[in-house]
Formats: sequence, C-alpha cells, structure tokens
Amino acid sequence: MDCKKDYFSLSPDVRYLNCATMSPLAKTVEEAGIKGLLRKSQPYEISSADFFSLAEVVKRKFAELINCINAERIALMPSVSYGIATVVKNIAQKSTDKLKTDIVLVGEEFPSDVYGWHELVELRDNTQIVTVSAPVELNNRGEVWNENLLEAITEKTLLVCISPTHWADGTLFNLEEIKNKCTHTGALLIIDATQHLGAFEFDLQKIQPDFLVCASYKWLLGPYGSTLAYFGPYFDEGLPLEQTWIGRKNSDDFKNLLNYQPEYREGAFRYNMGEYSNFINLPMVEKALELLIEWQPKEIQEYAKNLGQPFIERLSNSGYWIENESFRSAHMFGIRLPENVKMENIQKSLSAEKVHVSYRGNAIRLSINVWNEAHDLDVFSSILEANQ
Ligand SMILES: Cc1ncc(COP(=O)(O)O)c(C=O)c1O
Repeated sequence: MDCKKDYFSLSPDVRYLNCATMSPLAKTVEEAGIKGLLRKSQPYEISSADFFSLAEVVKRKFAELINCINAERIALMPSVSYGIATVVKNIAQKSTDKLKTDIVLVGEEFPSDVYGWHELVELRDNTQIVTVSAPVELNNRGEVWNENLLEAITEKTLLVCISPTHWADGTLFNLEEIKNKCTHTGALLIIDATQHLGAFEFDLQKIQPDFLVCASYKWLLGPYGSTLAYFGPYFDEGLPLEQTWIGRKNSDDFKNLLNYQPEYREGAFRYNMGEYSNFINLPMVEKALELLIEWQPKEIQEYAKNLGQPFIERLSNSGYWIENESFRSAHMFGIRLPENVKMENIQKSLSAEKVHVSYRGNAIRLSINVWNEAHDLDVFSSILEANQ
C-alpha cells in the first residue's frame, strides 16, 4: 500500500501521529458530512424511507468489514459506554448462574469498559471484578500479560471484557486464545475494538464474540458520536437501553405510529439508539467504511509495520523501550522513556515541531496510519534522540 495522505486535508506542516485519540476525516467523508448537514435545509427532501435506508447501508458495510454474515446483528449507538450499558442491563437480568462470579478485565482498561461493570457488580449478587494488571517487569511484558489473562479466565468467569489493542500502550491480546478459554469455561466474551478495528484484520466468524463495540472516530475514520456494535445470540430478545419508537415493529409505517406496538423489530434493531437515522453522521460513516473496505485493515497494519520498523530500531538503540513486535500492534504502541529523559522536554520539542502524539502515564502513545510517511517518523524520532 502507498501513502494515502492525498485523501486527507491535513496541514502539510503537521505530523499527525495521534489517530488513537481521533482520526482526521478523509475528504470524501468530509464532503458526505457537509452534504448531510445541508440536507436538513430542505427537510421535505428527506423521505420516511431515508430514516432507515442510510443505517441499513452502514450496517451492511460494517458487517462486511468484520466478516459478519448477518447485518441484522449490527446496531448503531452514540458511544462505547452506551453499548456496555446495554449489555450490563441484559447480563444483570439474564445471567442467573450463581457460580459465575468474575468479570475479568485487564489493568488500566479504558474507563468506558470499566464503569459499566461496576454497575453490574451493584446489580448482581456475588459478582466481582478481577483485574489482571500489566506485569511490572518490562522483559516479555506482553507475553506474560497475555498468559496471566488466560489464567484468570476460569469456571467462575462470567465474562471477559477486552480491548484487543490496549488503548494506552498498544499491547496486543490474543483474541483466539481468549475466545477458546471463554468457550471452555462458559464465559461471555465482550470486545471493545475501538483501538483495533480499521487498522487490524478482524474476522467475526473466527472469534465469535458475544458482543463487540467500536467507536467510529478513531481507526474507523468516521465522525464523533457514531459507534457500531455487534450483538451475538446471547442478546437475542434482550432489553434495549431505551425504548425508541423506531425500534418497534412496523415503525416504518409512520401513519400507524400511534397504534402502540409491544413488539420490537427483528434482530439487534431494538438496540439502536434513539434518532439512530443521523443524517449527518451516517453518510460519513458509510464513506469511511468504504475506504477501509477498499484499503483493507490487514494492509493498513502492514503499512504501519513497514513504516514504523526502522524508527523503532532507532529508538530502541537510543534507550527507549517498546514492546516486542509480537505483543503490540503496529498501528499504535507505547514508547517508554529512559530514566534520564524528561517527558516535559520531549512534549515541548514535539509541540514546537507540530508533531502530534499522545501521552499516557509515563509513555508516549504513537499512532501510525495511512496518511503518515517516513518524514513524520523521522522528525519524531530525531526529537527523541536529541533528548537522550
Ligand atoms: C478503547 C476505547 N474504547 C472506547 C473509547 C471511547 O469511549 P466512549 O465512546 O464511551 O466515549 C476510547 C477512547 O479513547 C477507547 O480508547
């Protein structure tokens, strides 16, 4: 794959290495958003069918991206925390097995994947959170962390909630092994793929999670405020977070909306958020998914890997610590500073050169995507080397 910088309208003097915080919009996505915004200036051009058709296209494209054979299992929501709140509500009501007590999480997980489970602990008897913290020892850190996670999944595990690329430092968790362990112990698998999908190959048929959620504004290259979710069979006939008019059977028959309807529409439709037919965001998500389907996440991962490789070597030779290649993603990873290097000095120099990264704990979080070129990483690495 070649560099896709021309698809975006980033300023030429900016080195944007921060997709883990937020992606820029591709020009086609930008245009779709502007067109969507202006559509409401002629509201009479929006038909009742449009309340459904846009979302159906987005569901199908997302299903294609993750190899989900049934797009009716996809729902649209505003955020990851909304998705987690939805599954918390359902698990609290449905999981009555008293021997299942543990909610297994990894340490320093993103808050949207933590607070919801605190609520489940309140709602459900005899339930606790088991946190598998990152090893303190840096040697083989990712490998040991993966092993410890697998060990923590036992017959007592109610569910595992995992972000396969850790949001803070890019540690990669082996989804196939986690899924196998969940299957053997009868645990639910909940995936937050926000830092993963779009830049990493994912096959839903292979992993078969019970629930997967992914915000669109990072690696899916979409707008803020649109999140996609997949609901597995465990959640069939479940309880939506909110009771929307559009989620009920025959909601496309506008003249009959006042014949209140007790039944929901098919599949995961009930889980869609209220006002899911977002006329600005959905065309943007559609265009972004089209780009990813064309570029292919596997190729994007390869692009990031090839681009990052020589600079990772340079930084490691200068005393910076980066996880082994097999236990971190190529599209985002943490860089820990040698003891003598001060984070605030690096921050100052990077910001003076308009290099955008993020800072999480005592590490720099570097993101690489298709708009980046070797020069971006050269500027970044030279600043780190000069601070050593
Ligand atoms: C792993 C992960 N999940 C979710 C989110 C966003 O959560 P929410 O959509 O609840 O704001 C982020 C944002 O950084 C994230 O890194």
